[in-house]
Amino acid sequence: MNSVLVASNRGPVSFTLSEDGVLTMRRGGGGLVSGLADVAGEIDLLWVCAALSDGDRSAVRLAPGGRLDQAGYDTGALRMLDIPPAVFHRAYNAVANSTLWFVNHMLYNTPQVPHFDIRFRREWGSYRDYNAAFALALAEEAGPGARVLVQDYHLTLTPSMLRGERPDVRIAHFSHTPWAPPEYFSLLPEDVGAEVLSGILGADHAGFLTERWASAFMDCCEAVLGARVDRAARTVTHEGRTTRIGVHALGVDGDKLWARACEPDVESHMAALRERIGDAKLVVRIDRTELSKNIVRGLAAYREFLATHPEWHGRVVHLAFAYPSRHDLPEYREYTAAVQRSAQEIEDEYATEDWDPLILNVQDDYPRSLAAYRLADVLLVNPIRDGMNLVAKEGPVLSPRSALVLSREAGAAAELGRDALLVNPYDVSGTAEAIHQALIMPEKERIERGERLRAAATALPPTAWFAEQLAALTS
Ligand code: F6P
Repeated sequence: MNSVLVASNRGPVSFTLSEDGVLTMRRGGGGLVSGLADVAGEIDLLWVCAALSDGDRSAVRLAPGGRLDQAGYDTGALRMLDIPPAVFHRAYNAVANSTLWFVNHMLYNTPQVPHFDIRFRREWGSYRDYNAAFALALAEEAGPGARVLVQDYHLTLTPSMLRGERPDVRIAHFSHTPWAPPEYFSLLPEDVGAEVLSGILGADHAGFLTERWASAFMDCCEAVLGARVDRAARTVTHEGRTTRIGVHALGVDGDKLWARACEPDVESHMAALRERIGDAKLVVRIDRTELSKNIVRGLAAYREFLATHPEWHGRVVHLAFAYPSRHDLPEYREYTAAVQRSAQEIEDEYATEDWDPLILNVQDDYPRSLAAYRLADVLLVNPIRDGMNLVAKEGPVLSPRSALVLSREAGAAAELGRDALLVNPYDVSGTAEAIHQALIMPEKERIERGERLRAAATALPPTAWFAEQLAALTS
């Protein structure tokens, strides 16, 4: 039994099974994993996650009770849940990623989707089963009075389910996404929306990345559940229980990131990129190819910038990293194709014998993206909506003299908005002009803004963010 438990869909490691039956473990990236790696030695931690691949499932089957404590990674003990693939598919793809993600990022194209029908009810049933599997495992593993930190939109029902099983444990839920305002959240069938909200309210503490998302959540609790909300005290009371609402603006560990970005593999990518682009200015974007990241409008903005500012032809290159993501969903596959088409159109219109205006990278290549950050003159981060967006925070750490063009709809805008060039993500012309302004920003101004951006981006590194979650359950 453990005294601190973390639950998330994606765990800190993944396994691959080779054709000759050898299992290989790979540690994942992300703030939570690296933050926990720093504190895992000091606390009695168990991480509960889902088995996501055949390799993961093989690892679970070899481990008694799915506990992979001897797996040899550095983030404490691990238990992977082998959820039946069909249930997992409905819970993860259909409900978490196609429904809750779409609602919270306000991505629906409402004349066609959403479509809440009998099929959705089946998917919703699987989402419940998947959440119940987490609640059960946590109830089994939590020591008396343990603190349990449940992560994200995949696991909104787990807090109340766990509370039913184990009233003694202290539970926090954290949303890494935005939260939708009630008018949009109410697209969900009333009972489903109510179940999501009361599921999270099963926690003692519900955490969000910004005031804006926290306040939208409280508005939804009031409008959908009729809960009593005290905005000054930041509490929501529903069915006799009170949940505290917290804001914890996850940032980056600047020293660690900088140290990684100075390693030889990154330096050699820098040299290769510099050779390829010569002394042209570099506009960089780094995203998963994810509908909310707004990559197609970002490319359209770059194209319009080239059309309206021909003086930059031959003197600027856009390096766009767009890593494949969630390709089990047709919308994501189509989006990747749309990104590739937009890039091709720019090439067809503007490329010359000796100038490549755009380099699109669709392979996940961490050292190469670190090299791009370090060389960037402009970093473009223009999501339609984003919980935080850590790219906007990594940029100022790795490239203190680059200018940041940032969507006003990214959570990071709350802290970085004063020193970034803020854009409306739907306004392609406005974004094109911001790219130009960023390129011509005087050196002194870039450096001054860069220093303030860096300070804001590193204010709450993952280790401190995690400590805040734990402290919220201690008081
Ligand atoms: O933005 C919320 C978030 O949970 C991130 O923390 C995470 O990177 C992503 O969404 C989940 O992605 P995936 O579906 O690939 O696990």
